[in-house]
Amino acid sequence: MHPCSTLVALAFACGAAARLTCTVPHVGAGHDDGPAINAAFQRCAKSGRVVLDQYYSVDSLLLTTGLDDVEVELSGTVQYTPDIAKWSPQSYYLTYQNSTTFWFLSGNNIHIYGGGTIDGNGQVWYDALASSNNKATAGASTLSFARPIPLTIGNSTNVVVENLFQIASPNWVSITLSSLSYTHDGWDIYRSSQVTITNSTINNDDDCVSLKPNSTDVVYAGDTDIVADVTVRNVTMRDAQNGARIKVFGGSPDPDSTAGGGVGFVRNVTFVDFTVVNVDNPIVVDQCYMTAAATCAEFPSTLTISDVHFINVTGTSSGKEKQVVVDIECSAECADITATGTDIQPPSGSAEYVCANVASTDEVRVCF
Ligand SMILES: *[C@@H]1O[C@H](CO)[C@@H](O)[C@H](O)[C@H]1NC(C)=O
Ligand SMILES: *[C@@H]1O[C@H](CO)[C@@H](O)[C@H](O)[C@H]1NC(C)=O
Ligand SMILES: *[C@@H]1O[C@H](CO)[C@@H](O)[C@H](O)[C@H]1NC(C)=O
Ligand SMILES: *[C@@H]1O[C@H](CO)[C@@H](O)[C@H](O)[C@H]1NC(C)=O
Ligand SMILES: *[C@@H]1O[C@H](CO)[C@@H](O)[C@H](O)[C@H]1NC(C)=O
Ligand SMILES: *[C@@H]1O[C@H](CO)[C@@H](O)[C@H](O)[C@H]1NC(C)=O
Ligand SMILES: *[C@@H]1O[C@H](CO)[C@@H](O)[C@H](O)[C@H]1NC(C)=O
Repeated sequence: MHPCSTLVALAFACGAAARLTCTVPHVGAGHDDGPAINAAFQRCAKSGRVVLDQYYSVDSLLLTTGLDDVEVELSGTVQYTPDIAKWSPQSYYLTYQNSTTFWFLSGNNIHIYGGGTIDGNGQVWYDALASSNNKATAGASTLSFARPIPLTIGNSTNVVVENLFQIASPNWVSITLSSLSYTHDGWDIYRSSQVTITNSTINNDDDCVSLKPNSTDVVYAGDTDIVADVTVRNVTMRDAQNGARIKVFGGSPDPDSTAGGGVGFVRNVTFVDFTVVNVDNPIVVDQCYMTAAATCAEFPSTLTISDVHFINVTGTSSGKEKQVVVDIECSAECADITATGTDIQPPSGSAEYVCANVASTDEVRVCF
């Protein structure tokens, strides 16, 4: 029987068949698979399906933009060549903290899935970083040492990413699982709304999930940054430096500052059912992040923090901060901050709580 002869089969078989499918072959013999990947995305950019089911060695920038209603089945491996001299200048510049990316993908209604892997081939970058000891912001993006992000999804709406692995990222990872040696953020969310991250296991070396500012193309002094309406639920963090944290740069007076000086707010953020195991700073609000104390004192952060709730944050601290398990220090008064059901034990002694400039310590019950 022809598969389209019943209604059920029609929806199933013909629906799938109707999609233009672009399966990317692997060139092999040391050739660059980048051009074929870019071409497939271009050909299948409208209501298409791009299938990446092989091993691909990518030596040129992946710029897959203008996608509309596209399925991306990544069941193979996309591995970037470990070529610092080549990738540093050719990776795509992202403005935010001068970061760059190997692959910039954008469009509307995109579904990325397939259980495949994006391999940043990071070891060569980690080694170079370790030997140069270059510690500038976001991995010292320069034309000679850019440390690209494996995949960046930007300027997009309605994108679902699931079941993908990213390994060995030279820098932050925008969707990640398991990175080795020396890597950075797990999820970075920037200028986005209505993002849901579920069922994510992150093993890394910097932020696990980082909500970066919304700001448009520049995050320099004078800009407005907002992080609002966020719920973080049912998270367990083990052996980490920080647990539930809000960090804000100080109020740098330098008009070219890329680390503070803007205005904005953090509002309506809730952490609920948050388990910490051996974490240095289980609950932290810091408005003097990466800023000298004297600079903060002279130029306090002008970004306001309000309506932040820590509900049922429980577990153990590492003892690195001795008995302090909660440290909430606002530059100007933070309003409506609450912590309820907090039960965090330091390795020895009884838990201590530090709160400064919180509108009413009455509201932060842990601070009593
Ligand atoms: C970003 O790049 C510009 C131009 O190269 C440089 O002046 C600035 O210091 C860099 N910023 C960071 C945070 O690396
Ligand atoms: C993303 O959007 C920004 C702002 O509209 C624009 O400047 C930039 O060129 C876009 N990037 C890409 C790759 O489309
Ligand atoms: C979470 O991911 C695991 C491993 O990939 C998978 O087996 C499981 O079905 C996922 N759970 C949900 C709720 O998506
Ligand atoms: C961030 O978003 C807010 C609200 O939409 C907007 O007012 C602000 O201009 C944005 N920031 C920048 C730098 O564009
Ligand atoms: C606070 O944020 C949550 C999402 O985390 C949202 O559902 C809720 O409507 C927000 N509350 C207000 C007052 O905007
Ligand atoms: C919390 O996460 C754990 C492990 O990921 C899962 O088994 C559990 O069902 C989740 N609980 C809720 C209430 O979502
Ligand atoms: C917090 O924990 C308490 C005690 O286990 C529980 O009754 C309550 O439902 C939890 N609250 C939330 C919002 O999950």
